[in-house]
Amino acid sequence: MVKSSMASRRPFPLAQARKWAPDADPTDLSTVFPILPGVKPQETLLSLAEEQMSEWMGKTVKSGEMQQQGRKSMPWGVFSTGQKDWETPHLLYAERAHGNKLWDVDGNEYLDVNFGDSPDMFGRTPDSPVHAAVADRLMKDGLSTMMCSKDAIAATRLLAGRFGLSHWMHALSASDANRFVLAIARHHTGRPNIAIANFTYHGTIDETLKFMPAPGEISRFHDLGIYHGAVDEGTKIFHWNDLESVEEILSDRTVACVMVEPVVSNFGWAWPQPGWHEGLKALCERYGTLLCYDETHTISKGPNGMVGHMGISCDFWTCGKSISGGIPGAVFGMTEEIATKVERDHTEVGFFAGAGFGFLGTALCGNTLSTLALRVTLEQVLNEQTFAKIDAAVSTIKAGMEEAVQRHKAPFRIETMGNRICYHFIPEPVTDPIAGLVQVGFGGLFELSHAYFWNHGVLIMPYFNMCLISPAHTDQNTTKLLEVWDGFVDLAME
Ligand SMILES: Cc1ncc(COP(=O)(O)O)c(C=O)c1O
Repeated sequence: MVKSSMASRRPFPLAQARKWAPDADPTDLSTVFPILPGVKPQETLLSLAEEQMSEWMGKTVKSGEMQQQGRKSMPWGVFSTGQKDWETPHLLYAERAHGNKLWDVDGNEYLDVNFGDSPDMFGRTPDSPVHAAVADRLMKDGLSTMMCSKDAIAATRLLAGRFGLSHWMHALSASDANRFVLAIARHHTGRPNIAIANFTYHGTIDETLKFMPAPGEISRFHDLGIYHGAVDEGTKIFHWNDLESVEEILSDRTVACVMVEPVVSNFGWAWPQPGWHEGLKALCERYGTLLCYDETHTISKGPNGMVGHMGISCDFWTCGKSISGGIPGAVFGMTEEIATKVERDHTEVGFFAGAGFGFLGTALCGNTLSTLALRVTLEQVLNEQTFAKIDAAVSTIKAGMEEAVQRHKAPFRIETMGNRICYHFIPEPVTDPIAGLVQVGFGGLFELSHAYFWNHGVLIMPYFNMCLISPAHTDQNTTKLLEVWDGFVDLAME
């Protein structure tokens, strides 16, 4: 942590967080537990969570054994840090996943509302037209050609029509799409810095894995020595929903790009206040900064994402995870002006920018499989029909969860964003990410709800209180989800 002019000096918006967690300190997760009327004491919740977790671990012994075997050839016994983020006493190994069901290697069946942390949320085999098209193509046409395909023309035209930017490129993860955008923005503007809102996540990128622990201070999220450069090099940080802090950060005209989500989705949810997005755009224009929306999570809102829903315009738009129906793939869109300059300058800087030294993609980007998957997702999945089905299921589930909340007189709140349903432990909507952290209920409610859901066969995502509803969702699944929610609320309340 260092004192730095790269971080806003404006005061933290702590009022809402401290209303529920009087000692809330954004740098210490042990202080953000909300004190709520009628809810069991924190220690009781934690010990109930432990009971649920140990029951679940007892049903998943084979997974534990496989993790031990896996340790001989993989750190933690898993193949990526994402697979260890369940943070359970032992980690689960999956046998297979079909539709919205998943089976672990012990044979336990789950209603999957996590979908691999989003990628498969718009459907997976056997009903997914994307997976069917990809399987067929793979057997006929091969995967990597190092050449473009007609699917890319079709897919990028669809992207342009839907998301309002004329030119598109491919990446294999949202992290990479964001990384490429930041690189282009620095080149385009000739400026060294990028800026993000405090307590936000945009993937595994050196510049964005930073936060502001206190006004005028900047820090990494942890002390691992895996990053290069000084902690306050390259990144400026402002407060979400605070235009004065944005102006403070942009006014020296060193910021190439502001990267934000339309709704903060990673530290609980934090909604934009009226005028926030318009004000942000106006400030970016005033100070010559490019504006990028990362729609990787909020695409869940509907066929045009949250950016389209809110009518926001921007210079870059990125999305990964589900945008290719679960097949690895991500996209980044840009204006024609930016694309023209990228193309021209890339040619002009000489030999080492080409011939294998290009910087906006690697050997697997734009492969025929991911490109086809993107096209089919846009044509056949991310459309009004799919969302009509999803929206109907989501509103039934929301109503059912709210009914249980009222019946148990629980001070909880249910929110939705398209196919995302979140339960929160603050009774009112949140507009800053620190209150967003409080509403997750870390320190008792979060732990109990997750252990209870998992132990009762609902595979909720490990980081937050979020359930994703896919087109495969049935009335029977709704009944199951509501039973489990009711069981948890009953257990959590006095
Ligand atoms: C908003 C946002 N952007 C980018 C990413 C990075 O996605 P990936 O892990 O696929 O690179 C995530 C992942 O959760 C995200 O939430």
